[in-house]
Amino acid sequence: MSKPSFRVALLDAAHNRAAFNSGSAPLDRYFQQQVSQDVRRRVAACFVALTTEQRIAGFYTLAAASVLLNDLPTGTGKKLPRYPTVPAVRMGRLAVDQEFKGLGLGGALLADAMARAANSEIAAYAMVVDAKDKKAADFYQHHGFIPMPNSPLTLFLPIATVSAAIYK
Ligand SMILES: CC(C)(COP(=O)(O)OP(=O)(O)OC[C@H]1O[C@@H](n2cnc3c(N)ncnc32)[C@H](O)[C@@H]1OP(=O)(O)O)[C@@H](O)C(=O)NCCC(=O)NCCS
Repeated sequence: MSKPSFRVALLDAAHNRAAFNSGSAPLDRYFQQQVSQDVRRRVAACFVALTTEQRIAGFYTLAAASVLLNDLPTGTGKKLPRYPTVPAVRMGRLAVDQEFKGLGLGGALLADAMARAANSEIAAYAMVVDAKDKKAADFYQHHGFIPMPNSPLTLFLPIATVSAAIYK
């Protein structure tokens, strides 16, 4: 069977969220019951990966955030201006439907989010993610994210370290 192809789009009312099943009940509940309210209130933007039949295979959310300079590893923090906080983009949630796991979609959605952050006119130092458990943190580490020394389920990746060639 050939690998399915996906297109990433902003979530809209025409997309059918009811059938989405990532295997994580809290993530599925959030996506089915809460996300459109968050989008309406502008506390999150939600992007979906769609199959050619318009089925939702994965989603992620992005929002503006800030991290405390003191929470970053010492070496990283030293190179930044001495403001108490550093601007960031938070990927609040990321999930892939069970039927589409292991195909590279999770990694592709991460890359898509990094590209949006890197190409934005509004500067942010890093992408920040909150991993729901150790397994999710391993997934992010596999993609180069660095755990915060005092809260290892929060990880970050400096946007400038992301090669423009890869993410353009
Ligand atoms: C985590 C999740 C998004 C991964 O999506 P996916 O499409 O199955 O992952 P991919 O196929 O893109 O995997 C990409 C790479 O990450 C690796 N990977 C996947 N899960 C991993 C894990 N838990 N630890 C380490 N590496 C992992 C894969 O081996 C693959 O490596 P490669 O590119 O070197 O071959 C998906 O399993 C999911 O939705 N899980 C439930 C929700 C969740 O945990 N979300 C995380 C945020 S809280």
